[in-house]
Amino acid sequence: MKVVSIVGARPQFIKLAPFSAELRKNGIKEVILHTGQHYDENMSELFFKELEIPEPDYNLGIGSGSHGEQTGRMLIGIEEVLVKEKPDVVIVYGDTNSTLAGALASAKIHIPLAHVEAGLRSFNKKMPEEINRIVADHLSDILFCPTETAVENLKREGIEKGVYLVGDVMFDALMHFSKLAKEKSKILEKLSLNPKDYYLITVHRAENTDNPERLKNIFSAISELDKEVIFPIHPRTKNRLKELGLEGYLRGRVRIIDPVGYLDMIELEKNALAILTDSGGVQKEAFWLRVPCITLREETEWVETLKYGWNILVGSNKERILEAIKNIKNGKEISFENDYASPKMREVLIKELERRREDDR
Ligand code: UD1
Ligand code: UDP
Repeated sequence: MKVVSIVGARPQFIKLAPFSAELRKNGIKEVILHTGQHYDENMSELFFKELEIPEPDYNLGIGSGSHGEQTGRMLIGIEEVLVKEKPDVVIVYGDTNSTLAGALASAKIHIPLAHVEAGLRSFNKKMPEEINRIVADHLSDILFCPTETAVENLKREGIEKGVYLVGDVMFDALMHFSKLAKEKSKILEKLSLNPKDYYLITVHRAENTDNPERLKNIFSAISELDKEVIFPIHPRTKNRLKELGLEGYLRGRVRIIDPVGYLDMIELEKNALAILTDSGGVQKEAFWLRVPCITLREETEWVETLKYGWNILVGSNKERILEAIKNIKNGKEISFENDYASPKMREVLIKELERRREDDR
């Protein structure tokens, strides 16, 4: 069996790491295609090195651009590679423009498509990610769902065939790399931080970064906090901060740092008193690490994190953010029921492809 894995953005490298290792360990030939959507060293190469992901076989070097331009250029490049490589299956991850382009390219030339993290919905079509997910799911032959909610969402849209509840590859990654993070990361010492004596914040969603009022509210809120606020800044947010001249809104004990590698990020998350974020992946990691999370969005795809009180949605309203910080408390003690997703996904892939071969005969 030959698979082409298509990735392009930071969270996709993290999702790829455990599954790629699982495929290769079992003798499955994998070709990695990096669209080049993320390209800074600390948004891309660092993850391949740290997470020991083999170098991409192809890097299309697409870079940044408007949605149409970026996705269109990816589509052209991906199609060329797929025509040349002729894989048995293409795997796309998550909900970025790289996911959308990968899904479209393979569906159009009839290569079976597997979507990792299928079925997630925010029910907000203003989010670019929501469009990408809906399209990718409706084009996919094999849909790997991380949660029961995701399976239900697909059912509601009439998708039941090829749907598998397998768990979350980001859980696999976190479990695997948190041991390594504990051994190797020196980020707390480097930043002179004491455990549970600082907040961690990440912000990069279009809905926040493209709206100056929302950014101002978030920045003003964190500037009033009584402990240090560590802010590994996404390049998108860094650019907006400069363009909009909002540097003055970041005061107090806020410390902006460059984006960090995954091992440092795990240590920063684990030891934070609370995490403020609009990231999908960070909300889940906070939940699995049992760190209270304040989500700077109006809705979340990861509704399970809300259910046990570990996550709270506050949007970008300053008062709501400050109120949430004032009332920080742990959620319910719940025991882990998660299983590793990667071995299940490998088994499904093999089974599904065998079934398809038989059907073709
Ligand atoms: C993308 C995904 C988003 C995901 C996020 C993860 C889409 C539509 N969005 O958002 O779902 O949550 O990645 O981080 O696919 N930039 C750099 N260097 C880089 C990468 C980006 O400077 O290496 C800057 C550029 O100015 C670029 C901007 O960030 O225009 C946005 O990058 P882009 O990849 O378009 O979207 P993200 O906001 O990163
Ligand atoms: N992450 C990281 N370094 C950082 C910020 C985030 O390694 O400086 C990791 C984080 O732990 C999570 C993933 O990147 O695993 C989330 O990616 P991001 O927030 O960019 O995207 P999203 O999950 O929202 O799509």
